[in-house]
Amino acid sequence: MPTTPRSRSQARTTRPWILPGMDFADSRRKPNFTGKIAVAAALTVMCIIVLKQSPGFSGTNVFSRHEVGVTHVLVTGGAGYIGSHATLRLLKDNYRVTIVDNLSRGNMGAVRVLQRLFPQPGRLQFIYDDLGDAKAVNKLFSENAFDAVMHFAAVAYVGESTMEPLRYYHNITSNTLTVLEAMAAHNVNTLIYSSTCATYGEPDTMPIVETTPQNPINPYGKAKKMAEDIILDFTKSKKSNMAVMILRYFNVIGSDPEGRLGEAPRPELREHGRISGACFDAALGIISGLKIRGTDYPTTDGTCIRDYIDVTDLVDAHVKALDKAEPGKVGIYNVGTGQDQ
Ligand SMILES: NC(=O)c1ccc[n+]([C@@H]2O[C@H](COP(=O)([O-])OP(=O)(O)OC[C@H]3O[C@@H](n4cnc5c(N)ncnc54)[C@H](O)[C@@H]3O)[C@@H](O)[C@H]2O)c1
Repeated sequence: MPTTPRSRSQARTTRPWILPGMDFADSRRKPNFTGKIAVAAALTVMCIIVLKQSPGFSGTNVFSRHEVGVTHVLVTGGAGYIGSHATLRLLKDNYRVTIVDNLSRGNMGAVRVLQRLFPQPGRLQFIYDDLGDAKAVNKLFSENAFDAVMHFAAVAYVGESTMEPLRYYHNITSNTLTVLEAMAAHNVNTLIYSSTCATYGEPDTMPIVETTPQNPINPYGKAKKMAEDIILDFTKSKKSNMAVMILRYFNVIGSDPEGRLGEAPRPELREHGRISGACFDAALGIISGLKIRGTDYPTTDGTCIRDYIDVTDLVDAHVKALDKAEPGKVGIYNVGTGQDQ
């Protein structure tokens, strides 16, 4: 419309800041401007203080400094079933914990439970990363001062491993190599490694002891055995003074006695049939009953016998292993009850 531009330009000419009185107008604006800067600066400082006091904030760099009397443990796979229980136990025992997990299998709910239980600064931080990303792993080690690693992160279903063997070799064997390389590069010298009785295969003699020959029969067991071999070869090399504990678990079951954590596999994983998960599902009414497979095992009812260990006992073994780990030495332990059930 022709009238609009004219009225706008008229309006502009009446504004004080283009008149000779501009100095006056400007001098009146200056205090405001300075005041705004002061308010913004104060707000920024306040935000930083509040952020620094919040539990998830790692910018204080507490996690990036070694501290006398504090052992900082990197728990890989800490959002998962065993890793979350181990984190709870470590935090209860006054360790500082960093969880790294890509949440491919784990449960952020478990991490939140732990964060709520231990909100104090410098106790627990969660870092979302994939151990298959070597650059990210290296960054994780550069930015944090770890004293030890508990390496739980893995895909861990025997049936799935026969369908997706390459995924298992990558996720278990290759990622363990990546973690080990980062530990060596960043001088982190204590490793507690989650291995499995699946590395033994089906031995002729029972019970299975640590010296029983390892002949794994599926990609899961083979991938774990290869990861063990990589770790053992490294410890034999002159470059290493690493303290290593390899724990070969039997069947893990149970949950935090106070009911704060549990095993919560994703629905698509339930078909791979861990009996531990099926027990939870049956108890919660998610499935109508518990199916125990097997009919022709040499047992009274034909179902198979297994050795079940409670998850709280298992994590207890980890903390004890961490305590006993010695530079340049390797401990290998089966972790089960030694009793058929
Ligand atoms: N549950 C058992 O009965 C049993 C028995 C023997 C050994 N283990 C071993 O114990 C460890 C933990 O098993 P779990 O039962 O707690 O399994 P889980 O699936 O509950 O936990 C594994 C965790 O690792 C994470 N993860 C997987 N790949 C990752 C990656 N590339 N980067 C970062 N995070 C990743 C997952 O998101 C998950 O949170 C595994 O190494 C497993 O082989 C378990």
